[in-house]
Amino acid sequence: MIIPSTSPFHMLSCLFVLLLLPFPSFSADPDPLQDFCIANLNASISVNGFPCKPASEVTSDDFFFDGFTKEGNTSSIFGAHITPGNVLSFPGLNTLGMSMNRLDFAPGGLNPPHSHPRASETGVVVKGKLLVGFVTTGNVYHSKVLSAGEMFVIPRGLVHFQKNIGKKKALAFTAFNSHLAGSVVLPLNIFASKPSIPDDVLTKAFQVEEDIIDAIRSKFSS
Ligand SMILES: *[C@@H]1O[C@H](CO)[C@@H](O)[C@H](O)[C@H]1NC(C)=O
Ligand SMILES: *[C@@H]1O[C@H](CO)[C@@H](O)[C@H](O)[C@H]1NC(C)=O
Repeated sequence: MIIPSTSPFHMLSCLFVLLLLPFPSFSADPDPLQDFCIANLNASISVNGFPCKPASEVTSDDFFFDGFTKEGNTSSIFGAHITPGNVLSFPGLNTLGMSMNRLDFAPGGLNPPHSHPRASETGVVVKGKLLVGFVTTGNVYHSKVLSAGEMFVIPRGLVHFQKNIGKKKALAFTAFNSHLAGSVVLPLNIFASKPSIPDDVLTKAFQVEEDIIDAIRSKFSS
């Protein structure tokens, strides 16, 4: 169908596109409405974010975080450890729309396929050699091996992973445009939810028999 360029429909769709153009920043957490809002994680009320600690009780320490000074313990089944620097560990980030993680990897260690519902992610490798990969919503896989000083970006919500393919430990730092990016870790989300997703859903979804689902579940039972 050809729509004359002066039709009301055409003009409305142009207006709609124009309205959307100036607002790319809507893909991050909302802007703060004050200089700072140190999270009061103990507050009994719940808002979109955390209520602020009274300004009179704020100290310099609220703006600093030393959680990344220690190497993470990588003796988990994945051989990797994520130390979060998000609003829950560093309440000074509350409402500021940003956070970071420290990622430690044993040789062969994996940060398993996962996605962040509320943020894009960028990261830099500090030590070692990491295979970083993600998959688009069109199921296209992008990946690269990165060494110290090299950066990557994972667009918001896409499934991605990092794997240490070097012979030594690896270290990286990541940053998010959310104070609490959230993490959907696929193997745990699908096979270790409480309560469990029904077996017949998973056998049909993955086109395998129940014993395979049970075998995978058993790896995550603890
Ligand atoms: C929250 O509670 C903990 C322990 O009860 C306390 O140490 C901390 O200072 C409290 N934080 C705020 C912001 O009130
Ligand atoms: C790392 O964690 C494991 C088990 O969780 C523990 O046995 C080990 O002592 C820890 N290592 C260090 C250096 O803390």
